[in-house]
Amino acid sequence: MKYFIEVWGCAMNEHDAETLGGLIEKKGFIKADNYSDAQLIVLHTCCIRAKAEDKVIGRIGALSKIKKKRPEMIIAVGGCMTQQEEVAQYIQTRFKDVDIIYGTHNLNEFDKMLTTVLEEKKQVKNISCTDGMEIKEDIPIKRNDNLKAYVNIIYGCNNFCSYCIVPYVRGREKSREIKFIIEEVKALLENGFKEITLLGQNVNSYGHDFNDGTNFSVLLKVLDKLGDYRLRFMSSHPRDFDYELIDTINKTKNVCHQIHLPLQSGSDRIIKEMNRGYTKEHYLALTDYIFKVMPDATISTDIIVGFPGETEEDFQDTMDVVDKVGYDQAYMFMYSIREGTRAAKMENQIPEKIKKERFHRLLTLQNKKSLEKNKAMLGKVYEVLVEGLGEKGRLTARNRGNKVINFTGDPSLTGDFVKVKVIDYNTWSLYGELIGD
Ligand code: SAH
Ligand code: SF4
Ligand code: F3S
Repeated sequence: MKYFIEVWGCAMNEHDAETLGGLIEKKGFIKADNYSDAQLIVLHTCCIRAKAEDKVIGRIGALSKIKKKRPEMIIAVGGCMTQQEEVAQYIQTRFKDVDIIYGTHNLNEFDKMLTTVLEEKKQVKNISCTDGMEIKEDIPIKRNDNLKAYVNIIYGCNNFCSYCIVPYVRGREKSREIKFIIEEVKALLENGFKEITLLGQNVNSYGHDFNDGTNFSVLLKVLDKLGDYRLRFMSSHPRDFDYELIDTINKTKNVCHQIHLPLQSGSDRIIKEMNRGYTKEHYLALTDYIFKVMPDATISTDIIVGFPGETEEDFQDTMDVVDKVGYDQAYMFMYSIREGTRAAKMENQIPEKIKKERFHRLLTLQNKKSLEKNKAMLGKVYEVLVEGLGEKGRLTARNRGNKVINFTGDPSLTGDFVKVKVIDYNTWSLYGELIGD
């Protein structure tokens, strides 16, 4: 029997899907290349914005139709979206063809749910409402890649940014024991992985729940000693991102000078309404310091436009930060109401038309900035990790700043670190040529 997992959402969800894959393979299934070859189809969902949820509902509808012709097909829907009780309820009643509904807190039990469906041929729904997932360390992970790997370091989120659903569907923060993180990273390096990305909704909170002095800087220093590789992390919270951490990143040999530092808004008033706990000035002081000690750093961000009550002046503060920082990449979103969050109840919601118009102005500015950033790389030489064949027969590779550079070369270079010189660029891509040592 074959399985196929479709994933929406963030890196953490992608990584959870690798855990699901491991659990499914324990039951004797093998991975299918596409959904039409699979007997088990899993939709691993996200609910961060309404659009993400709408897409999943559309997809369940399409699969239900296919199931009419292939009644033996098993459909599972789970993850963040179904961790919301009312959504799970809706899917269960509206789509009788869905066999398994699971949440985020009980992902570990997917294999048991699958057994029930296979043996008893009945629908199972399990979205236990315990506060967060119990961390189990003996679950096999079916990794999607053999060069780059995600490693969880902290689960859940305690921040309750007023617009965000994540704390409700992922539970409270729980750090993973440092010895298990070390073991996992060591094993990955022994197995030839070249790049590790540490994952958490707010990696800067790592270890705070241990109350023994362990923090994110300590973790980075320990992991840095495990070999020669690239170490990345995401996401950081500007409130908890401190100067000690910037110095640690600078002093370690493996930690890449690449920082994802979500701004959300540049207006002090909106940042406060978002419950983010920093100011525009604090944020700019951080990015100034990052570039002062690491001039080669790349910084990316997340921004929301059209948060309730956002005025043109507030929006200009966001534009100002984007202009001043010069992000290599910005993930920009129009505010989306999430029921159950504090911002959903705010009265001064912004009309879609204004959200769209601001979004386009921000996008235009960021595109200009991305182009400038890429232009500044022209003629420079970078060490890149070759990831494989990409578009138009070119090899795709990334430098330490996580910038993608495409170049013409032999596919056998996949997995190697090589040097390339940037010879061309546009807003979204960089092109290089291979150079000798
Ligand atoms: N924990 C991470 C990101 C989580 S979600 C962090 O704090 O950085 C990824 C991004 O989605 C957020 O950074 C935010 O920009 C965006 N987002 C979250 N809730 C949203 C909402 N209700 N509407 C629009 N964008 C949202
Ligand atoms: Fe959401 Fe804020 Fe937590 Fe990020 S830090 S997951 S934006 S509540
Ligand atoms: Fe989405 Fe859940 Fe990630 S809501 S962004 S998949 S934590």
